[in-house]
Amino acid sequence: MDIEVLGRALTTLPEDDEHPYRTGPWRPQTVERSAGNLEVIGEIPADLDGVYLRNTENPVHPALEVYHPFDGDSMVHVVGFRDGKVFYRNRFVRTDGFVAEQQAGQPLWAGLAEDPERSPRQTGWGARGRLKDASSTDVVLHNGVALTSFYQCGDLYRLNPTTLETLGKATWNGQFPSDIGVSAHPKFDERTGELMFFNYGTEAPYMHYGVVDAQDNLVTYIDVPLPGPRLPHDMAFTENYAILNDLPLFWAPEALARGKYAARFYPDIPARFAVIPRHGTTADIRWFEADPTYVLHWTNAYEEGDEIVLEGFFQRDPEPPAGNGTLYQRMFRFLDNDKLGPRLHRWRLNLITGLCKEEPLSERTSEFGMINQRHAGRPYRYSYAATSPPGWFLFDGLVKHDSLTGTEEHFRFEDGVYGSETAMAPRPGSSAEDDGYLVTITMDMNRDLSECLVFDARNLTAGPIARIRLPERVSSGTHSTWAPGSLIPGWREHDDAATAVHL
Ligand SMILES: [Fe+2]
Repeated sequence: MDIEVLGRALTTLPEDDEHPYRTGPWRPQTVERSAGNLEVIGEIPADLDGVYLRNTENPVHPALEVYHPFDGDSMVHVVGFRDGKVFYRNRFVRTDGFVAEQQAGQPLWAGLAEDPERSPRQTGWGARGRLKDASSTDVVLHNGVALTSFYQCGDLYRLNPTTLETLGKATWNGQFPSDIGVSAHPKFDERTGELMFFNYGTEAPYMHYGVVDAQDNLVTYIDVPLPGPRLPHDMAFTENYAILNDLPLFWAPEALARGKYAARFYPDIPARFAVIPRHGTTADIRWFEADPTYVLHWTNAYEEGDEIVLEGFFQRDPEPPAGNGTLYQRMFRFLDNDKLGPRLHRWRLNLITGLCKEEPLSERTSEFGMINQRHAGRPYRYSYAATSPPGWFLFDGLVKHDSLTGTEEHFRFEDGVYGSETAMAPRPGSSAEDDGYLVTITMDMNRDLSECLVFDARNLTAGPIARIRLPERVSSGTHSTWAPGSLIPGWREHDDAATAVHL
């Protein structure tokens, strides 16, 4: 393995850290590396062509009082594949918050679980306000640039998808909605080159929806009026529509009036979905009501006759009881899929009748579903989701769901090994939806190392066909994406993709 150290972050984390999300599989890193000639067990498919990008909450300072894993600074990992070869890099995203705290040598913003009044810096970002925009939630590719985002809205940081150099913030030719920012989970439509997004906040109209075109112009940006502040996390789209949501889990209004941000589930309020023509206006929005739940992530949506079919993970218990556990157990019950009980679910929104019909698709608890992105917004059959161990925001296995037959294949990592959100990499030129590869990064606590695993998406249960040893055990993280080489500028211009500096 050839390793080049690219940088080291200043860290003030305690040596004897005991926080559950800064130790074990969530132990953060401080060193940035570039690595080639990686040890490979098995064989990397010659037609696996592109980069797997994974975002990570990777703190370098302790919190003011109580750290929440969504506060961690963004570190992005890239594993790139070309011509049967592989390279790896990890870099911090140079957000304004990360840079300021590196210079100060201490935390400057109160985190999600802390009182904003205590924040040393009284300006900041996020729907709540006064948060650090860590940009550590999601990552997508648009116009050949990787964009990282923050779940509570902030800037979109632009990264070179192979070197991970921070290229600044998205400006959208001066039209970026900097007053509110953009939520995690903007959606890229490969067929049109458009990026759809939403944002939300505590001031009316409480949500907006927009579209950026393939030239980075903001071509649509509209109000989506809600009854009050909400906590939407994800959106979906079809060929002609965007689907936003107003779900009955939000900051308790009476606490919010006192400046407290306490998320509560209201089981008597229906879930609502907004169906908006992709380039429509506020007047075009149609609302559909469904059974109360919270949905963190959608897998996909598509049009079928008069209906919009929307699929995602229906939570059986969006606000699990606090119980008598420790502070951390009470705080992190909202991260415990075993308690939330998300299961794959389908909603059918009928554009003629205005009614919604819904049905469960699986009895298995899973979340973080990924698909072949060529099918995003179009009919699809397969999703690839993560299963979780009770009590932890960790992934202990992968499940491939076949919506045509209702069958599932499950691959479980060995005990003590955890995976990442697993991206699907379609084989270049393939036409079958599951003709491609699944790519993930593991945190192996048994051997104290990380590997990038590559599976044949058609035969998940056979296990990985290639395991690539990474230079260091990386921290667990959240969202990932697959960026095909065909969408990365300069991808083929250099003899060795591993050492090429693109853009
Ligand atoms: Fe998410």
